Amino acid sequence: STPALDIFPSAPIAPVSPYIFAGFLEHLGRCIYGGILPASRTSFPHTPRAPCPDTQYTETPSALLTPEGFRADVLEVLRDELHVPMVRWPGGNYVSSYNWKDGVGPKEARIRRPELAWGGEESNQFGTDEFIAWCRVAKIEPYVVFNMGTGTLQDALHWIEYCNGTGDTYYANLRRQNTGRDEPHNVKYWGLGNEVWGEWQVGQQTASAYATKARQWAHAIRLVDPTVILIGCGETGVNHWDGIVLDELVDKVEMHSIHLYTGFGPRDRSQTEREYGRGVYGPDAAEYSIEVCKGLINKARFARNVSKPITIAFDEYGVWDETAGTPQNGLEQFYNFADALAMASWLNVFIRQADVVDIACIAQSVNVISPLITSPTGLFRQTIYWPLYLFSRYMRDGTAVKLSLDSPTFAGETLPQWISTVKGQPKDLDASAVLHVDAGTGARSLRVAVVNRSEHETYEVSIRVAFERIGAEVEVHELWHQDVRARNGWGKEDEVSVKTRTTKWDGQWTFREHSFTLLVLSLQ
Ligand code: AHR
Repeated sequence: STPALDIFPSAPIAPVSPYIFAGFLEHLGRCIYGGILPASRTSFPHTPRAPCPDTQYTETPSALLTPEGFRADVLEVLRDELHVPMVRWPGGNYVSSYNWKDGVGPKEARIRRPELAWGGEESNQFGTDEFIAWCRVAKIEPYVVFNMGTGTLQDALHWIEYCNGTGDTYYANLRRQNTGRDEPHNVKYWGLGNEVWGEWQVGQQTASAYATKARQWAHAIRLVDPTVILIGCGETGVNHWDGIVLDELVDKVEMHSIHLYTGFGPRDRSQTEREYGRGVYGPDAAEYSIEVCKGLINKARFARNVSKPITIAFDEYGVWDETAGTPQNGLEQFYNFADALAMASWLNVFIRQADVVDIACIAQSVNVISPLITSPTGLFRQTIYWPLYLFSRYMRDGTAVKLSLDSPTFAGETLPQWISTVKGQPKDLDASAVLHVDAGTGARSLRVAVVNRSEHETYEVSIRVAFERIGAEVEVHELWHQDVRARNGWGKEDEVSVKTRTTKWDGQWTFREHSFTLLVLSLQ
């Protein structure tokens, strides 16, 4: 039978939170030094996976920097193309041995430290004041994570006072002295530790030990600044950890975090190429995580009589094959076309789950498992940049609405077995829809994002929009390449990119094999 997509603009899920287009900067590889700041001689050589034109150390010319000394090209892409509204910093695993006091004050006096999460050394040339200065220029809301590994509650309280204090107190005055301005940094979003459950984490703890500590921290932090938004440290949303932490902490936080990556490496490690299906259908696991986590949140809210909604900060997500992006190459993964389809599916998940996902941070924003790769003098956009660009542009400003999708399913093994057992086999077609109302004219349009995840099948889909008349024309943005392994790179920056056109609308659309299509339909 012909696959069918029914969309219900009058059945809202929730307004889309702009913060699902958030980013993440960690002191890892060339994310900060080489991405946000020019690479310094001491952070060279690096070994990017994408063959780089500059094999010798090259100074980034000052013409390519902002007056504050940040890389202008990276900043412009994040601010002016992707409109990234929020960034999480400084880690990641890095934060669990980070001492924020090492990163403030005169740069020449800053301490170099061994870096415990990823190896190497940290120069501390980019610290709290530089991060906030960068956020201001980039028009980005800062989201800062506390060190709950080696850090003490005292350090955390001093950090909040440094960032947000307005009184005549030591750390508020130290900030004034360091920045030369009175205005506080005003950091609202704070994460209570990173992946504290992981055995790789400095200061790993059990769920109940973490929850007890996080309750104490939350209480004290709010005595310094009662306006902060606190994000509890979750695992993948479905774990024992998530249940225990939520039960203990739900009345002390505003959000619970989830981390998950897809794009798993080859099952057989002797193979170098990744299997298509393992990556492209992988984001269905994230939807399962969110659905289960929502249940755990509500169970915990009920037990503790919490009436305010608690939402999810999916504050690390993305496509990461750990056999390709490794600590040795600074996690510089060179993405192919199939990875772009996975990225589009990830974003569909966040739109469909708009009622509970308030923040989603792509891991990471530059060089490290990222849509952007820099050289000292330029950058290129990886394949996974394009779905982010299209979603950020067309699916951000509006209300996610319900749909029903009848689609053939994928026969092979893709998801962890236990997810397939509960959810069934993943569908080839994957979709989300947003109703947009133009603030000036009141004109309404429906934005429909469809990924045809089948590697070889083209599907003609009948698209019905309940109780609406559709305009005569449709705007179409399509991402397609004949080769699912095609990549962008130096010298072939546009191998994979979006094609846009306007054409007649007749109630159905042919979705090419392995494609991502975003349709803009006007409602009469
Ligand atoms: O994003 C890379 C790493 O993945 C982060 O540091 C950590 O939180 C996660 O395991």
